[in-house]
Amino acid sequence: MTLSKLVAGNWKMHGVSSDLDELRAISAAAGDYPGVDVALCVPAVLIERAVRAAPGFAIGAQDVHHAEKGAHTGNVSAHMLLDAGATLTIVGHSERRDAQRERNEEVRAKAKAALASGLGVILCVGESLEQREAGRALDCVTTQLAASLPETPERPGSLAVAYEPIWAIGTGRVASCDDIKEMHGALRRCLVDRFGPAGSGVRILYGGSVKPSNAAEIFRTPDVDGALVGGASLKAADFVPIIAAAAQG
Ligand code: PGA
Repeated sequence: MTLSKLVAGNWKMHGVSSDLDELRAISAAAGDYPGVDVALCVPAVLIERAVRAAPGFAIGAQDVHHAEKGAHTGNVSAHMLLDAGATLTIVGHSERRDAQRERNEEVRAKAKAALASGLGVILCVGESLEQREAGRALDCVTTQLAASLPETPERPGSLAVAYEPIWAIGTGRVASCDDIKEMHGALRRCLVDRFGPAGSGVRILYGGSVKPSNAAEIFRTPDVDGALVGGASLKAADFVPIIAAAAQG
């Protein structure tokens, strides 16, 4: 199945009011590539201003709590994100799995709650350098995905999986196209095992040092349905050529 590509930016802990001009420029340019779905996942406090700055453009969050509401100081629910105008959220980013000690079960609960509420979800998985060097990358990442995926195929079309090797994030190192192809093929099998034919409709994104100079090659790789882009999503001058490459690939 050929899926339209999704190019999502992850602004991480970057972005204040003065950066909304970049967001406006990205949103305006994205309109030139109607075949590519484009989104920016911004800090939670910027979501509402981002939605106002670029009406109709997909704005996402970077995390969500699994509960609807309650005594969870500092957390934000799916309902709150929707209320602020977000249409999607990242869950299970390796920076949160590491610094916030998020386990697979928690990532699964977040994905489930977000999908049930109507948000799109980008669920991140990826191996450490140690796991890759030990030849355990495929095994570790498919196990991680199986444990992080919701059990039921609720709205699988609103789910994307991002394969982000931890050693490639923010380092300038990129997985080889052969490695990406092998991993994405294994993740596709995992998704079909879990969701049946609907698993073929889940987009699998690559993330980790995607830049204008390597995007075209990555998008041409089989089973790559888009990208999750960190550093190169902060400026329109870097991000728009990546969107353009997705339109070609
Ligand atoms: P990077 O980040 O593109 O800066 O490597 C990707 C990510 O962490 O999602």
